[in-house]
Formats: sequence, structure tokens, C-alpha cells
Amino acid sequence: MTKKIYIETYGCQMNFSDSEIVLSIMNDSGYQISDSVSEADVVFLNTCSVRDNAEQRVLKRLKQLKSLRAANPGMVVGVLGCMAERMKESLLEEANIGMRIDLVAGPDAYRNLPELIREVESGQKAINVILSTEETYADVTPVRYASNGVSAFISIMRGCENLCSYCVVPGARGKERSRDPETIISEAKELYEQGYREITLLGQNVNSYLWKCHYGGETITFPRIIEKVAGLSPSLRIRFATSHPKDLSDELIETIGSNANICRSIHLPVQSGSNAVLKRMNRKYTVESYMERIAAIRKAIPQCSVTTDIIAGFCGENEEDHRQTLKLMEEAKFDFAYMFRYSERPGTPAERSFTDDVPEDVKKRRLEEIIGLQRKLSHESNKRDTGKVFEVLVEGVSRKSEKNLMGRNSQNKVVVFKDEGWEPGTYVNVKIKECTSATLLGEAVDQPVPLISQSN
Ligand code: SAH
Ligand code: SF4
Ligand code: F3S
Repeated sequence: MTKKIYIETYGCQMNFSDSEIVLSIMNDSGYQISDSVSEADVVFLNTCSVRDNAEQRVLKRLKQLKSLRAANPGMVVGVLGCMAERMKESLLEEANIGMRIDLVAGPDAYRNLPELIREVESGQKAINVILSTEETYADVTPVRYASNGVSAFISIMRGCENLCSYCVVPGARGKERSRDPETIISEAKELYEQGYREITLLGQNVNSYLWKCHYGGETITFPRIIEKVAGLSPSLRIRFATSHPKDLSDELIETIGSNANICRSIHLPVQSGSNAVLKRMNRKYTVESYMERIAAIRKAIPQCSVTTDIIAGFCGENEEDHRQTLKLMEEAKFDFAYMFRYSERPGTPAERSFTDDVPEDVKKRRLEEIIGLQRKLSHESNKRDTGKVFEVLVEGVSRKSEKNLMGRNSQNKVVVFKDEGWEPGTYVNVKIKECTSATLLGEAVDQPVPLISQSN
């Protein structure tokens, strides 16, 4: 009987993209993909280490799997991803985890999974956490699972060498390396032919993409690769995540501005509004240079949304630093933000060099203030959009009502409107009538999208 593989993914979009690679490798070695954990012969958790609570969720899930495993003793349980890379052999010690884990594989070891499973089947525990300087899985065609059939991810580079002092990613994912552009373009083309209409190019530091070998005689930088993918069809939208402020060049801003199908949406994590904190974080930019980048975006592409990540309560952050973060948020007028309490991570430069000295209740209060302010800013941003017409790419029915469809505009805002029979993957022009801080509500109109909302 064909064996079944089940995978659960935690963490960032890169990890979701990696799970699609894992499924492809498992499929090629004869496994059938299952969406039922209780039927599976192999259960993988593809894990995240970025904050302590991300790891706690995985440990809790492993405890739940313990009873499943009691009912199905032949089941192979594997931990993949960043937590596997960070914790290595210690994950295989039952005393640490509270249950037996058979297999541990880091993010660059997925080609080795069939072999590791064979080792487990022969009665051993199996581990491969070797990081590579070259692996990009360029030749592996991801299996798109849990997909809406409209939007897909393509990983175009792996690893990160920015060494932000709080961050586990450089340790968990290794050296930065970019993927062969030809394989990126052929994957994008295939997705378009299968009906996908939105592709997000992924990398922890995506805008530092650089392919040095010759491809049609040129060195390929991020603006060039994004332009090549955008060139496949005007009805294919391109997004990208995540950009580091230090690599957001004028050339990239110009490229976005001159290609209407590169989305008017930039995720530009700022982390803090205090220069002293940014320095300790090793972010390599100042508040002034960050705000200069925001001004350059707003000038060249006025309708572009800008979103961010913020950490509250990093080592040594005082009330004045915190106030500066709130001030920067007001000035930048972020359309959306992911906001976190600082969580000290083992093995990071911050753990070695600084004291995690902001008390938890202070971190919590500062985070609440940041979240409260962002809710107001998001609402204001949405209010500015009422009355405008946007081109919306339909993704499916709205979660709240089957009578409504949901999709996104170029700015990556969720738009909900009445279902008049459009299929997912269709572009519909929608006039915004109302909003909440999270959603735009509108009506389909025949009116074309005015240039001001759509492109330049
Ligand atoms: N490569 C991206 C994202 C990295 S992880 C970037 O450079 O922006 C996503 C976000 O998690 C980070 O932007 C940061 O805001 C947050 N984060 C990372 N490490 C953290 C930590 N130790 N504690 C709290 N938040 C953290
Ligand atoms: Fe972490 Fe910084 Fe790299 Fe982002 S850029 S993954 S925050 S080290
Ligand atoms: Fe988490 Fe690893 Fe992504 S630590 S955020 S899954 S790169």
C-alpha cells in the first residue's frame, strides 16, 4: 500500500514554501500526500524558532501527537525547519521533549529525507542538520498544497547574513544564496499557465537577490529578476517579501513604479524608531535613512502601501526609545504592521552581548500601545481609500458570508464585495464604500480603475 505523508507548517512564508518542496521530494519517493494526520505513516512538523512562543506551539503539538503515535506505533515523526536546525540532536532526546521523535532535518537537508526515513525504518534515529552554501532546491517543482489556486510563492533566495542581533534566522538558515533566474522564470510561467495570477517572490532578505553567473550576459539583481517575472504577462501580479531597508534601492522603486503589475505594496520592517536601539539591533540604518526611503517610495509611487514589523522592549529600550517608535509610526503612516514583544533567543548575538532587561509587563504595555496606535493608523489608511476604485483579484468567498467574495487590491488590502458569479483568479473593479481597520468593503463597478489607484 502507498505510504502517506502529512505535514504541518509553522512560521513564515519561506517555511510554507519549503513544505511544498518537502512534499515534492516525498512524492517523488513514492509517498501520497494526506491531509489527515491520523492516517499518515509519516508526520512532519516544519517548525519556526523566531520567538519562544513559536517553539512552544510546536512542543505543545508534539505532545498531542504522542497519543496518536500510541495508536499507530509505526508512525514516523519528524521535526524539520528552523527549530530542527537550532536544537539539533537535543530534539531526539525523549526526556527533553516528552515523546520520541524519529527524525530531525534542517532547512538544507530536505533532499536527504527519503534516506533519513529509511534509516528510521531500519530502527535508528535519523538526523541531518548540515547547512549548505549552495542548496536552493532550484530543480524541485513544489507541490502546491492548501493553495487557493490564485496566489503562490516562489523562493528565490535562501539564508540571511544580516545578523540582526535579536534574530535566529542567520543561525537557522545559513549563508545567503540566490537561485538560478532561469528556474525562477520557468516556475512562474508554469504557475501562470496553471491559472495562478499572483506570485510572491520570497527571501528573508529578498531585495539583496543577486545572481552573479551569466544569464544572457548580465548579472541579475533583484530589480531585474522581478521585472523579468512581471514581463511574463500583464495579468500576472508580482509581490515580494521581505525587503531590508538598506537594500531598498532607487532602482527598485523605479522598477515598481514603471511596471503596473508589480504590486503597490512594500513590506519594510523598521523594528524600532530609536537610533540607539537600531544600533544595538545591528539593523544597519538610522531612523533618518529609513524615513528618507519612505519619502522616496511615497514620491515615486504615491499610492503604494507600506507595511512593517516592530519589536517592543528590546534590550536597553527605555521610555524615550519607545516614544520614538510611536512617533516614527505616526510619521511613516504604516498601512499595516506585524508587532511583537522581544523574545530572547538562545545563540543570538543579543543573547551574548546584552541583557534582556525590559520587564515583561513593560514589554507588554509598550506592545499594547504600539498595537493600539497601528489599529488607528490602519483605520485611517482604509478611510482614505473609501470612494476609490481598485482592481481586485478574486481569491474566493469571504470567510464571514458566502454571499460575498474576497480578494486583494494591489496594495495588499483585503477587499470584500457582493458575489455576482466571478471565479477566483478574475480581476474585478470595486468601488470602496465602507471600511474597518482590517478590511475594505465595496461594490463591483463597470468604471475602470483610475490611474491614481492602480499605477502611476
Ligand atoms: N527577514 C525579515 C523577517 C524576519 S522574522 C526581516 O528582516 O525583516 C520576522 C520578524 O520577526 C522580524 O522582522 C522581527 O520583527 C521579528 N523578530 C525576529 N526575531 C525576534 C525576536 N527575537 N523577538 C521578537 N521578534 C522578533
Ligand atoms: Fe533576521 Fe535580520 Fe535576517 Fe531579517 S534581516 S532574517 S531580522 S537577521
Ligand atoms: Fe521562523 Fe525560520 Fe521563518 S525561524 S520566521 S521559520 S526562517
